[in-house]
Amino acid sequence: MLKLKNTIDEFGAVAKILHWFMAFAIIGMLIVGFIMADMQPSQLKWTTFMLHKSTGVLLMFLLAIRLVWRLANPTPQLTVNGFKGVFARLSVYVLYAAMATMVISGFIMSDAGGYAISFFNMFTIPFVFEKSSELSGIASQIHTNAAFAMIGILFLHVLAAFYHHVFLKDSVLVRMLPKKTRR
Ligand code: HEM
Repeated sequence: MLKLKNTIDEFGAVAKILHWFMAFAIIGMLIVGFIMADMQPSQLKWTTFMLHKSTGVLLMFLLAIRLVWRLANPTPQLTVNGFKGVFARLSVYVLYAAMATMVISGFIMSDAGGYAISFFNMFTIPFVFEKSSELSGIASQIHTNAAFAMIGILFLHVLAAFYHHVFLKDSVLVRMLPKKTRR
């Protein structure tokens, strides 16, 4: 039976699906983001912008669902204590903060810049902010810097997962994997 909710020992299906879908989408967003920012103006560039912005808005909704789901569910217990435990707990909050910073700064950069956000060409999101090139410029700087920070944070996150699996030999990586792939 597919368990949707988390327990104190492992993540449920909803948390796992959100984790892996968002992980691959964010890595894709980082790669595509840097490539498209350097592209010469062309139809391909504008289509890539539309896809990047649409996926970003989708990630914004998924992040909100993920936060609500996290609060409504038990979180599997940490396997490390003391300083390492504080670091592990902190790193999770930093990851959530980085995701929120990316989606919010991206949205503000586009919206306050006066560029409409078309959600996968299906509908256009109404403007939220007054047009302001100053606000859009600040958001753009935050978006770029947070992208570099995110690369570092993701690198540490993946390293920590492998450290747990290979050296501490605990269930931290395995409890986030689909059940069938377990040894
Ligand atoms: C987790 C979510 C996101 C990630 C990881 C991400 C990543 C990136 C990266 C790496 C860049 C290149 C930065 C640079 O070279 O200066 C970029 C550019 C951009 N992003 Fe995002 N982004 C995300 C969400 C969003 C959202 C939600 C929007 C808008 C709705 C957005 C709109 C843009 C735009 C318009 C640019 C191009 C800026 C320019 O070249 O003028 N992004 N993004």
